[in-house]
Amino acid sequence: MGISIGMVGLGAFGKTFVSYYKAHPLVSRIGLCDREPERIAQFVNDPFYADKFKEGDAYGSLDEILKADFDALVVITQPWLHAEQCVRALEHGKHVYSAVPIVSLPCADEILDWCDKLVNTSRRTGKKYMLGETSIFHPETMYCRRQARAGAFGSYVFAEGQYYHDVDSPGCNLRDVQRHRLASTAGREWVELKKSYDARGIRGGPMHYPTHSTGGPLNVMQTYALKASCIGQAAPPDDAFFSGEFGNETGFFKLANGATMRINEYRRIGFYGEETFNLYGTEGSFRHDHWVDKRTGKHLTLDEMRDPLPREVYDAFLEAVRARQRAAAGPGYQDKDFSPEENDRQVFGGHRGSHAFLVHEFVSAVAADRQPITNAWEAARYMACGAVAHKSALRDGEWLPVPDWGAAPGA
Ligand SMILES: NC(=O)c1ccc[n+]([C@@H]2O[C@H](COP(=O)([O-])OP(=O)(O)OC[C@H]3O[C@@H](n4cnc5c(N)ncnc54)[C@H](O)[C@@H]3O)[C@@H](O)[C@H]2O)c1
Repeated sequence: MGISIGMVGLGAFGKTFVSYYKAHPLVSRIGLCDREPERIAQFVNDPFYADKFKEGDAYGSLDEILKADFDALVVITQPWLHAEQCVRALEHGKHVYSAVPIVSLPCADEILDWCDKLVNTSRRTGKKYMLGETSIFHPETMYCRRQARAGAFGSYVFAEGQYYHDVDSPGCNLRDVQRHRLASTAGREWVELKKSYDARGIRGGPMHYPTHSTGGPLNVMQTYALKASCIGQAAPPDDAFFSGEFGNETGFFKLANGATMRINEYRRIGFYGEETFNLYGTEGSFRHDHWVDKRTGKHLTLDEMRDPLPREVYDAFLEAVRARQRAAAGPGYQDKDFSPEENDRQVFGGHRGSHAFLVHEFVSAVAADRQPITNAWEAARYMACGAVAHKSALRDGEWLPVPDWGAAPGA
């Protein structure tokens, strides 16, 4: 018997994961759930999904799908909803995959409370939680994880992580993303709820979406922040997107392993989008796709950095890509012969080829009854340091302690 997976949230991002979960060889059945019926309808009569998706497995809300007998739910709803929905899924006896971050709310203390609830609920129920943090499955991060395991960094000295995504980025304009996220029933409810934060003068900031920059370094070093100091840079007060929040935040962290970390979360920057990190140790360092030691630097190719994906999983994902191409082209279409590099690009998918690995990590962790790499304990470390950094920015850089929940049992 394979694993049954319910996909909750089929918006701009969630819909791109459906074919991966459907195609994974260990998945036997999928369900589809969204409050907007047309977001499910696009999959219902598509023959590609017919062997694993039946119309009776379409659900109009999280409440409905929670009552169904799925082993796991994949929650890719708006960022202010994740934590409460994932805790409910765990309470209903389901493993859960969440889009990033754990949760993004204007109030840092509420975020920290949700980290606490999530870790405790995963511990108590024994159900697995995985944060779908794309940067953890970038080829660079995979390579650094292997180097870390081999002890090649020596003792850690310094990490620098950055997520640069300008609000008016031509590749992915955040004003358009926001407009789309609010143009749904869940979005309209949030517009009302957000007013209660505004009325109390509670304002979030970029550090409330920190996992793209904090995740890589903390995961590779397997450490956590002890304390944080952060400086915020005001956005223009009349810019409705920021509504009085900081546009950029620069955080400094003292880590439990003795190293220091600098994190830039910038939404107002004349620079193309980037979510990257550099990591320096006493024996070796990783910087801009190079492994560097005291004598020399070596440029690394994607193939050298990336972990392998099991052959049968790669082939199943490749067949899914081909099936989508055939369906889009219509009758008479002949599969094209692509180069191995182009096949890789198509199979591994978006965000530096992380999508295929995220899906495989979650499905294989559930199948093996093991903690995923980005389990609740680990994910709380990426999130908590950002929430505390924002609190520090509101106090002009005061050093504040960062809570930690330890490492996952058995991880
Ligand atoms: N690099 C990355 O990791 C990355 C990139 C893009 C988006 N994301 C994350 O993906 C998530 C989704 O973003 P998006 O742009 O697709 O948003 P979206 O608004 O397009 O989609 C969210 C969907 O969730 C549905 N939904 C909300 N509550 C529901 C409920 N109770 N029951 C059923 N359906 C419900 C909505 O109707 C909507 O269709 C966000 O949290 C975002 O942070 C991550």
